[in-house]
Amino acid sequence: MKHLLSIADLSTEEITSILDTAVSMHEVQHREVKKLPTLRGRTIINFFFEDSTRTRSSFEIAGKWLSADTINLTGKGTSVSKGESLRDTVMTVGAMGVDMIIVRHPASGAPQQIAEWVDCSVVNAGDGTHEHPSQALLDAYTMRHALGGLEGRHVAIVGDLTHSRVLRSNLLCLAKLGAQVTLVAPPTLMPSGIGAWAAADGFNLSYDLDAVLPTVDAVMMLRVQRERMSGGYFPTAKEYAVTYGLTPRRLGLLPEHAVICHPGPMNRGLEISADAADAARSLVLDQVSAGVAVRMSILYHLLAGEGNDQ
Ligand code: CP
Repeated sequence: MKHLLSIADLSTEEITSILDTAVSMHEVQHREVKKLPTLRGRTIINFFFEDSTRTRSSFEIAGKWLSADTINLTGKGTSVSKGESLRDTVMTVGAMGVDMIIVRHPASGAPQQIAEWVDCSVVNAGDGTHEHPSQALLDAYTMRHALGGLEGRHVAIVGDLTHSRVLRSNLLCLAKLGAQVTLVAPPTLMPSGIGAWAAADGFNLSYDLDAVLPTVDAVMMLRVQRERMSGGYFPTAKEYAVTYGLTPRRLGLLPEHAVICHPGPMNRGLEISADAADAARSLVLDQVSAGVAVRMSILYHLLAGEGNDQ
């Protein structure tokens, strides 16, 4: 494994190996000295052309805890703002002899393109509306831990599906781990062509959140991405919250064992109520914590794992 660009590139065995390694990486978080020598002498560039709190900081922490040298770059503070092309910018960084570029970019496919331009490993930290593979892996890690496995479990993914790269990676990842998935959204936020995709890949579609919630083991609420919306996808925020939000009333529809996920950042009061976000069964902060461990495991697999002779 050289790059992590899409969950589609990973076999079930590779996903399981990343999640299993993350279990031992997670123990580092509870140590006083949070440092393993695994990636000593390796250099990792975090190149974020879009804002991020969780992904950027957890990749940086993951690299540091594995003793790699990590450097953060953004579009604004680099020569990108002077008009340098993406190709020239990443080839310049690549020519410095770095071992990995972790990239977030608003254009779908940018990490794939970068991987063709540079010799080092490339990790997709979220590209446009395409994929966010490390998010899906940490979501799977968190749900697997909470539910004791994902095989045969029912996961509902709810909200702004049209603009969600998290959805695309999660659909691929959950299918490979044997979970049953139902997507719930208003018709305006269902991606075009989703019916054919659902028929081909065996997941379900629903417009009725109240009917789906009593049947789930986990519900994943997705953020309404207003910054990517050019038109009115729903009449008002209040109407969206009433029809598709995880409201206090809807918490009562969940089975007792069911857990709540949200990849963050959350719009409290829109897709998720404060009662749901802060509920005992909410795994929102567990997902953040798992993010560091899973990203440590990803770095390990790409830079130090079996068969990696870079
Ligand atoms: N979930 C996620 O990608 O969050 P950030 O945008 O804060 O990285």
